[in-house]
Amino acid sequence: MLSIRRVSCHSPRRRSVNRYHDGHSFLTRETDLKLIRPLTLIWLAALAPSIHAGGMPIDKGRTLAATCANCHGTDGHSVGGTESLAGVPRDTLLRKLSAFSRGEKPATIMHQIAEGYTPEQLTLIAEHFAAQRARTGH
Ligand code: HEC
Repeated sequence: MLSIRRVSCHSPRRRSVNRYHDGHSFLTRETDLKLIRPLTLIWLAALAPSIHAGGMPIDKGRTLAATCANCHGTDGHSVGGTESLAGVPRDTLLRKLSAFSRGEKPATIMHQIAEGYTPEQLTLIAEHFAAQRARTGH
């Protein structure tokens, strides 16, 4: 989304860095790029509270747990070789996750994944999976 703006010779913006003389106008490509990033952040910051105000509470546990779905299946119902997490008691999950993040439980990948979350986030994730109904006989 890069817009190239034409600025007239008399505009004060013609003094910006990286300008190209183009007959009677200047292209201030760099200036526009620099503006886009902070504006995006402001837009996102403005949007965030409106999601809450709109009466759509964000299920943080579910959102955080979504990153586990690639390997442990949707909502922890694994269809591959990894363990299902659905219905596993919260404390069991938390014990394993903190053992991973402390490097006490042998792992190929989980130690790195578990390290990426705060204890509060791990608790939310564990609560989410514990609340899922375990499927039997799949
Ligand atoms: C890239 C694939 C991948 C992702 C993503 C992933 N895991 Fe794992 N998980 C594994 C593998 C593989 C193991 C087996 C241990 C190992 O080798 O790291 C495992 C093991 C576990 C175990 C231990 C299971 C047991 O009974 O021993 C738990 C608990 C767990 N993962 C939770 C999670 C949670 C929670 C997330 C999301 C925050 C997650 N995993 C994301 C691949 C993944």
